[in-house]
Amino acid sequence: MSKLLKFGPALPAVEIPESSLAPDWQQARPRAIARALERALGRPHGNWYVVGESRLLGEEPHHLRIAGEDLVVWRASNELIIAPDACPHMGASLADSCVSEGKLVCPWHGLALGKEGHGNWKRYAVHEDGVLSWVRIGPEIPETPLPVIAPRPGVYLEGVVQLEVGCDPEDIIANRLDPWHGVHFHPYAFATLTVLDLDDDVLKVRVAKRLVGRIVAETDATFHSPEPRSIVMTIVEGEGTGSVVETHATPIEPGLTMVVEATLATSDRPGFRHAKKLQRFIRPFIERSARRLWVDDAAYAERLYELRNG
Ligand code: FES
Ligand SMILES: [Fe+2]
Repeated sequence: MSKLLKFGPALPAVEIPESSLAPDWQQARPRAIARALERALGRPHGNWYVVGESRLLGEEPHHLRIAGEDLVVWRASNELIIAPDACPHMGASLADSCVSEGKLVCPWHGLALGKEGHGNWKRYAVHEDGVLSWVRIGPEIPETPLPVIAPRPGVYLEGVVQLEVGCDPEDIIANRLDPWHGVHFHPYAFATLTVLDLDDDVLKVRVAKRLVGRIVAETDATFHSPEPRSIVMTIVEGEGTGSVVETHATPIEPGLTMVVEATLATSDRPGFRHAKKLQRFIRPFIERSARRLWVDDAAYAERLYELRNG
């Protein structure tokens, strides 16, 4: 650690648990990961699924598959509409429809379909949270009328990456519940990583993230799952306190999952508010570093899926 050059404020001294001095493979606790995963999978979700980054969902219709359902997604007068991707007349796919006055015009016989629906063909409930869009597939659960979203910073620079991984959502969550792989599996990203605290609901780590070469930013971060298909990292001490990385795992079908990861970076440095003007230039940097980690983590999650499925 002495050879690393630290950027940003010093972190408060904490007692490093003795167990954290052992080699990572001895520290890693598969049973603790399994318990935390079980807790996460038991949380309410209200049948909500992340669809993707809101700004990328425009007026052109396109097809999406979520939880085994084929869906068509488009916007009419800025309102997001998600409905079954099968015309109620004879089943044509609507993803290649022309749009007229906000309605899809079925390519086979011209039935116009909009938010009012047509017989049993009805749109799904949607929610836009300011960064991501969600769809509810399944009945409304009164206790969870909206998606369960962890607190976000008030002002932030954002970046969102999206990729398909050959596994189930629980494998994505399990990967994030294993902090002990950080330094060995992503040596280009993390210089040190110490688990400070661990219970079945929240995991706290002290991590030195590489900025350039030996220059690192040291932060304390927590991981928790607000609902079964999401896991959120929140910086609680150090540079960027309050920033979050939300990882959402949306099932496409068994063995195939769409990962949507939103990084919302904030800072209490003076002038950060003005940094919002730089959003368009900073987005590619945020997304590039998230995507790089996901090359490794997708392989990890796919391996978990293989092991679970023999
Ligand atoms: S299949 Fe769509 S109008 Fe006939
Ligand atoms: Fe990882």
